[in-house]
Amino acid sequence: MVGLCDIRRKGPNSELDHIGILGITVRREFRGTGIGKALLKDALQRNKGVFEIVLLDVFSTNQIAINLYKKLGFKEYGYLKNAVKRGNEYIDEIKMYYNVE
Ligand SMILES: CC(C)(COP(=O)(O)OP(=O)(O)OC[C@H]1O[C@@H](n2cnc3c(N)ncnc32)[C@H](O)[C@@H]1OP(=O)(O)O)[C@@H](O)C(=O)NCCC(=O)NCCS
Repeated sequence: MVGLCDIRRKGPNSELDHIGILGITVRREFRGTGIGKALLKDALQRNKGVFEIVLLDVFSTNQIAINLYKKLGFKEYGYLKNAVKRGNEYIDEIKMYYNVE
């Protein structure tokens, strides 16, 4: 396996049933060859009729992932400063959504 993209239900059997949470990763040595884009396109396509909104959080420093998400239609809806603390370092997160149509 060289990559994984999943969309999990945010709140099973709840008022959040229509929302999916996206995760994606490609093995380091296979990055930059189009696999991430293909996986994400496929996941969004397959989830038509399953979810109405897909959400994700991405480190504000992760420009490659941000580029990919924007390219496939994700929009920014929030920004959380100091979302993650690693030792004494803080990382901000951008919150993004995609409307599945
Ligand atoms: C983010 C990730 C999944 C992208 O997968 P990938 O297979 O490397 O991406 P692709 O080769 O399909 O490229 C998709 C888009 O990403 C962007 N991109 C890819 N490599 C890039 C680079 N070196 N610099 C800037 N943008 C880049 C481009 O917009 C590209 O689209 P284009 O080829 O049409 O220009 C991959 O880098 C990864 O696994 N990163 C570590 C885990 C991670 O950050 N996951 C997301 C957490 S929110």
